[in-house]
Amino acid sequence: MGLADDVLDGLTRPFKELPPKHLYDARGSELFEAICSLPEYYPTRTERALLVEHADTIVGDAAELVELGAGSAAKTRVLLDTGRVRRFVPFDVSPTALDETLAAEYPQLDVLPVTGDFEADLDRIPGGRAGFPRLVAFLGGTIGNFLPGTRRGFLRGLAGTLGPDGRLLLGAGLITDVDVMEPAYDDAAGVTAAFNLNVLSVVNAELGADFDLSLFEHVAFFDPVNEWIEMRLRARRAHTVRVAALDLDVPFERGEELRTEISTKFTRERLEADFASAGLVLDAWYEDADARFALAVARVG
Ligand SMILES: C[S@@+](CC[C@H](N)C(=O)[O-])C[C@H]1O[C@@H](n2cnc3c(N)ncnc32)[C@H](O)[C@@H]1O
Repeated sequence: MGLADDVLDGLTRPFKELPPKHLYDARGSELFEAICSLPEYYPTRTERALLVEHADTIVGDAAELVELGAGSAAKTRVLLDTGRVRRFVPFDVSPTALDETLAAEYPQLDVLPVTGDFEADLDRIPGGRAGFPRLVAFLGGTIGNFLPGTRRGFLRGLAGTLGPDGRLLLGAGLITDVDVMEPAYDDAAGVTAAFNLNVLSVVNAELGADFDLSLFEHVAFFDPVNEWIEMRLRARRAHTVRVAALDLDVPFERGEELRTEISTKFTRERLEADFASAGLVLDAWYEDADARFALAVARVG
């Protein structure tokens, strides 16, 4: 669904919600890049260290790398540096110029960027090439943004993109100390708060809404029942927002919260169960010494 449908659907519910993909306009993508370098944001550096340690084994015989939610593909370079990948398909809802950026760095690499929504547009991934085993990467813990049932459906769809001899590489946050998880989504410098609030600017710009960002505060907490981090925006006082393009008035109570992202934290068992329901089997599992983040490699079983 596009932004207008998501706003109409999500802001007219008793518990308001917007899907996280709208956090990533050009400014949101920049802010996410900044988050990745924050001391509190352990997922990026932990995942990168795992990729560096296991890149050779992970890439194996893969000649094509498809990356969903690639962003700036910063960590992906670790896989490209093995020199074995000949074709790279970065897929993201936010348009990238990765073909130009990577051309200079990797002259032998064919880069075919796809702009699309991985929940709806997996059929935009170009057809595979004979003799080019495919590795589909989904890094950064983005798999955690799905609700459980949707996640299983999504993984089933992904299994269908792997092709013969293909494998899936999934980066997933693991359940760890709350004192470690929560600051990663609520940093001292306020970058994550700016990232979260930016979604309101996106609705203002795209749909002529009049959200006043100063009337909302960033909230992030671990929900131990659902085992996910939630990011929300809390109204500082009662007010009504007008969304001109939808002819919609959205009332907020004082203290009312709008959910903007969930980030599920996993156990190995839970991921294996998700894989099984999608017809996938675990091939390899790598996690850091503190068991905060894992890379799972799976194939069609
Ligand atoms: C958490 S960031 C991860 C970026 C990068 N892969 C990393 O590991 O640092 C999520 C990425 O997925 C993209 N994204 C989010 N929802 C998407 C969707 N529905 N379809 C395609 N891309 C999406 C965002 O634009 C962003 O680049």
